[in-house]
Amino acid sequence: MSRFVAVARVEELPPGTRLHYEFEEETVIVLNVGGEFFGIADLCTHDGGPLGDGDVWGCEIECPRHGARFDLRSGRVTRLPATDPIPTYRVEVRDGIVYVEEPEPW
Ligand code: FES
Repeated sequence: MSRFVAVARVEELPPGTRLHYEFEEETVIVLNVGGEFFGIADLCTHDGGPLGDGDVWGCEIECPRHGARFDLRSGRVTRLPATDPIPTYRVEVRDGIVYVEEPEPW
């Protein structure tokens, strides 16, 4: 069963911002895109680069290294050179607190 961890107050993560939350094994990026929250692994499946500083285009994030893009909702690849999806994590907002699903160990 998934465990959720509180990562921020909603007002600390306004639209257009993101945060990095370090779990024991993995860093998760939580993004607020136009008031909708997404959680993704900070790891590009092309060559292991970090995605954290990647530009966001609608519901896609672009890897700053070689330009692969991933859908924030599903993790699926939307532009090469990556071919494998990235892990995504559920994000919930309850009582003004943002919670993210803790990654399962790989
Ligand atoms: S490491 Fe992300 S596109 Fe190459």
